Amino acid sequence: MKKVEIIIRPASFERVKDTLANLGIHGMNYTEIRGFGRQRGHTEVYRGTTMHVDTLPKVKVEVVVHDEAVEKVLDAVIAVTRSGQVGDGKIFITDVIDAVRIRTGDRGNDAL
Ligand SMILES: Nc1ncnc2c1ncn2[C@@H]1O[C@H](COP(=O)(O)OP(=O)(O)OP(=O)(O)O)[C@@H](O)[C@H]1O
Ligand SMILES: [Mg+2]
Repeated sequence: MKKVEIIIRPASFERVKDTLANLGIHGMNYTEIRGFGRQRGHTEVYRGTTMHVDTLPKVKVEVVVHDEAVEKVLDAVIAVTRSGQVGDGKIFITDVIDAVRIRTGDRGNDAL
């Protein structure tokens, strides 16, 4: 299993959520965060306004998927988030050792 952590513009969140649902993903969570990338200390356009700030609002989506699903998740998410402008976002992928469905005791892939 892999955890895919997708950091995106808030405006992209609904599209990413719908995209994951269309892929048959059964669970995810999201957090409203602030962060910066390579343009720290520079300006970035946010909701049509050029902002001079250290950090910008972003949304972090976390989804744990079967190993075989990772590439299709990446392709689908990138397709709905890439504008070509700085600040489009970033995706981190990490190994997940195990998972548990509390109700049933299902483990690993069966718990997703
Ligand atoms: N190395 C990192 N570690 C953790 N979070 C990061 C890292 N880089 C970026 N982020 C998070 O991702 C968000 C979006 O990053 P961003 O898309 O601006 O990346 P970038 O590397 O600056 O690429 P670009 O040049 O396309 O803007 C940041 O606001 C921050 O929340
Ligand atoms: Mg950036």
